[in-house]
Amino acid sequence: MHTILITGGAGFIGSHLTRLFVIKYPNYNIVNLDKLTYAGNLENLKDVENDPNYTFVKGDITDLAFLRELFATYNFTGVLHCAAESHVDRSITDPLAFIHTNVLGTASLLQAAKENWNGNYDNKTFYHISTDEVYGSLGAEGFFYETTAYDPRSPYSASKASSDHIVRAFYHTYHFPIKISNCSNNYGPYHFPEKLIPLCIHNILNNKPLPIYGKGENVRDWLYVEDHVRAIDTIFHNGKIGETYNIGGHNEWTNIDLVKELCKQMDEKLGREKGSSEKLITYVTDRAGHDLRYAIDATKLKNELGWLPSLQFEEGISKTIDWYLANAQWLQHVTSGNYQQYYSKQYGV
Ligand code: NAD
Ligand code: DAU
Repeated sequence: MHTILITGGAGFIGSHLTRLFVIKYPNYNIVNLDKLTYAGNLENLKDVENDPNYTFVKGDITDLAFLRELFATYNFTGVLHCAAESHVDRSITDPLAFIHTNVLGTASLLQAAKENWNGNYDNKTFYHISTDEVYGSLGAEGFFYETTAYDPRSPYSASKASSDHIVRAFYHTYHFPIKISNCSNNYGPYHFPEKLIPLCIHNILNNKPLPIYGKGENVRDWLYVEDHVRAIDTIFHNGKIGETYNIGGHNEWTNIDLVKELCKQMDEKLGREKGSSEKLITYVTDRAGHDLRYAIDATKLKNELGWLPSLQFEEGISKTIDWYLANAQWLQHVTSGNYQQYYSKQYGV
């Protein structure tokens, strides 16, 4: 019987990961530890909250005394570490919050697991969920490989890079049983509307401007979130200890083309006149230090573990829009309150 700790399980990716594990592995106990920051929302897990193999614990990954007690209570055999501050724009405004949570939080979690496991690493895994942003910014050509040198350029990516280094240091120093994956941009249901895709869906619905940073020429490699968590499941169970795996969709879009695709599909679904949502596109001041292009080479994951993305982007975007249209109440809940203050500060409106 495994008891698995998922951190940040009330967030976007964490909630999909929690749902997958709770449903697919009824003989595992899944404990979701989340601080419930602005990004954490238990509504994301309404459908599994009463399942007998699911437990929610509210707590902070930077609180080592609390983590020690948690590990002593549950004797976890695995950790899937998703909790983080995750939004680049917020890291530009408040870098220390990112260093605190992402660096100190990850180090505290490693330390609590190491003390509890006490050198007995048989059938134990500490899996750190990381990002392709640690590799920096690409020009028009090339890909990020697992061997690409780290070159983070935002406070967010630097904090994630630091946490990756600490996780690897535990492996090399203590033979601590780690795995890491670095994934490209995710999209799908339950994505908080501070990120480009859900923000634009929300604004199109409300006929509000669609803020495009700079010229909209920056490129991201988009992956449907359920494909990401399927990859995590594969790596958690079949990946090698000490290894890093890149995860990506081979699905590059410039921001402007992506937003135009969103506008096209939303016009069709909402029965609006063709081209009407595109009129909302507004070019705004660029993000400071805006990385030009991310693109993942996920060959290692494909060749070694047989994982491939399942959805074409147009299909994934269509499913995503349908979800937001069917879940207006979720969107309304997460955009009330503090969201309005954040939006005014970030976009000056
Ligand atoms: P998110 O912001 O939606 O969720 C983060 C979750 O962590 C929230 O539920 C929040 O309450 C929780 N959390 C924050 N600080 C905490 C703390 N101190 N203690 C306990 N819980 C805390 O993030 P996401 O987009 O789901 O990303 C999850 C992970 O995946 C992150 O580590 C991120 O770096 C990584 N990642 C994200 C993407 C992406 O496109 N979103 C891509 C690659 C990797
Ligand atoms: O690559 C993985 C990363 O993807 C994750 O590690 C991060 O947690 C996640 O937030 C995401 O980072 P990005 O900065 O790429 O995502 P975001 O949705 O914020 O922005 C996507 C692109 O759109 C980026 O080039 C900036 C641009 N953008 C974003 C916003 C919010 C705009 O043009 N306008 C906007 O209003």
